[in-house]
Amino acid sequence: MGLFGGPSEYTRAAYLVPREVVLITGEHEGDEALWPVDLHMPVALEPPFYALSCRTEAFGARVVLASGVFVVNFMPASEETKVIEAGALSGAGAAKRARLGLAVSPARFVRAPRLDAADGWIEAEVHEVRRFGDRSLIVGRVVHAETRPRGARTFHEWRR
Ligand SMILES: Cc1cc2nc3c(=O)[nH]c(=O)nc-3n(C[C@H](O)[C@H](O)[C@H](O)COP(=O)(O)O)c2cc1C
Repeated sequence: MGLFGGPSEYTRAAYLVPREVVLITGEHEGDEALWPVDLHMPVALEPPFYALSCRTEAFGARVVLASGVFVVNFMPASEETKVIEAGALSGAGAAKRARLGLAVSPARFVRAPRLDAADGWIEAEVHEVRRFGDRSLIVGRVVHAETRPRGARTFHEWRR
């Protein structure tokens, strides 16, 4: 898989350790967010907070910021093709999820869809957004998490 952001020593360093690619989902007034993110992490355990680093102009991020909630879906390796395809398509004006054939169920505590194929998911309410260069750090207060790990997940690594 190519490296988004281009090959520089900085991105090479950032991706020396494979990063798990999750799919973020959200919904606002009929618009659906669905996009892969590998820049994400838990930032606090008690109380729990989870952070995403995103281009805030991207369609999915705008949906999440408008609704104030997001779901982090941990995808099994068997769904890798769809995960990567979700990064190549824009959700703007297109039924991205339907094109990818990903089924959803309502999240339990936030108004957003979660992906049925996920090995687990985290539901969060946007708590704080801070701009850093070309990205924004979206920090969510975790309101629910559920996991059912079944095997290998999807990772993004530097291969050269
Ligand atoms: C493997 C992979 C990892 C990505 N990681 C991120 C990320 O961490 N943050 C981000 O803003 N975009 C990331 N992207 C790019 C977004 O997924 C892409 O801009 C998004 O799909 C645009 O969709 P949208 O127009 O529906 O928002 C990644 C893409 C791929 C393929």
